[in-house]
Amino acid sequence: MSEQTSPAWPAPGTALVTGSAGFIGFHLARRLLSHGWRVIGLDCLSDYYDVTLKQRRHALLEPDTRFTPVIGRLEDPGLMMDLFAAHKPDLVIHLAAQAGVRNSIERPRDYVEANLVGTFELLEAARAHAPRHLLLASTSSVYGANNDMPYGERDKADTQMSFYAATKKATEAMAHSYAHLYRLPTTMFRFFTVYGPWGRPDMAHFLFTDAILHGRPIKVFNEGEMSRDFTYVDDLVDGIVGLMAAVPGDTPVSARDSLSPVAPFRVVNIGGSRPTRLMDFIAAIEAACGREAEKLMMPMQPGDVPATWADTGLLQDLTGYAPKVDVRDGVQAFVDWYRDYYRV
Ligand SMILES: NC(=O)c1ccc[n+]([C@@H]2O[C@H](COP(=O)([O-])OP(=O)(O)OC[C@H]3O[C@@H](n4cnc5c(N)ncnc54)[C@H](O)[C@@H]3O)[C@@H](O)[C@H]2O)c1
Repeated sequence: MSEQTSPAWPAPGTALVTGSAGFIGFHLARRLLSHGWRVIGLDCLSDYYDVTLKQRRHALLEPDTRFTPVIGRLEDPGLMMDLFAAHKPDLVIHLAAQAGVRNSIERPRDYVEANLVGTFELLEAARAHAPRHLLLASTSSVYGANNDMPYGERDKADTQMSFYAATKKATEAMAHSYAHLYRLPTTMFRFFTVYGPWGRPDMAHFLFTDAILHGRPIKVFNEGEMSRDFTYVDDLVDGIVGLMAAVPGDTPVSARDSLSPVAPFRVVNIGGSRPTRLMDFIAAIEAACGREAEKLMMPMQPGDVPATWADTGLLQDLTGYAPKVDVRDGVQAFVDWYRDYYRV
């Protein structure tokens, strides 16, 4: 998408991006490289979904000599410590994780290993090498059973509905303790349903587009009575870039700041700030595909939540930036990419 108002860019330095072959990490790494940053990209190319898609994302980054790919697991003994020692990153943006609500019911151990043990290893390396700013991905799923929307960062997030969300909430607590004990400036993002080109094959926009273009029915959970605050990936990356320069200190920026009273640590929502009903989202995909979907109405899935909606006021206070891509335009961009990539 074009016509984005660019956020203010911090002076180029070295960034360690974990999950650089993943959907969001790839987009972020590409943006950082285009603004003169050196990027150390760590990813284990896990087989949770099509590894070729991950390899092709990395392959697009590799021609840039300022990109250093590292294939390995966060929790490999000594790997994070070695990477920090060798590259001395100014910023660390930790996106590598085992994601997915449904899969966390089938394979909870993967979430313990990647999200809990992996994040612990990253925090230990950060403790030893003290980067200027540590930024870590959490999720809107941490708001769980809280129905009081839109969600503000200071609202309750104590009732996670899936093990995925529980591990992400745990990483927030782990990062807070390190920020407090070792004075590590830390920003924790809560992302709201991110979609766009090079997206994740396990997510609704991908599954629906794939099924519609191949003439298969789509599964519509909770009989369509759902809504999501969808975030276009370019908007999300703008939010991340804006927050890179918003290093938490001792003073709240506004009354709605989530800044910890004891640590240079804050949580920030990055969302579209406009909830879209699932049936409207499906209609946008149908319009972009030029075909109507055959819909199988299904009950609610275990672990899922019926609605999400971000209050992005704090993101605006910190960066002056508000996400802006309309769902119809964002969906069209995704479907165009999908057709081109898979030649459908
Ligand atoms: N996409 C969304 O809508 C969304 C919403 C909320 C939060 N998030 C969070 O944002 C981050 C990025 O998500 P994404 O959508 O790009 O997911 P993704 O699965 O596309 O990317 C994650 C990457 O991390 C890598 N990885 C997994 N475990 C690893 C490990 N142990 N060591 C090294 N690499 C490992 C995977 O190979 C993958 O390439 C994740 O932390 C996710 O939980 C995403």
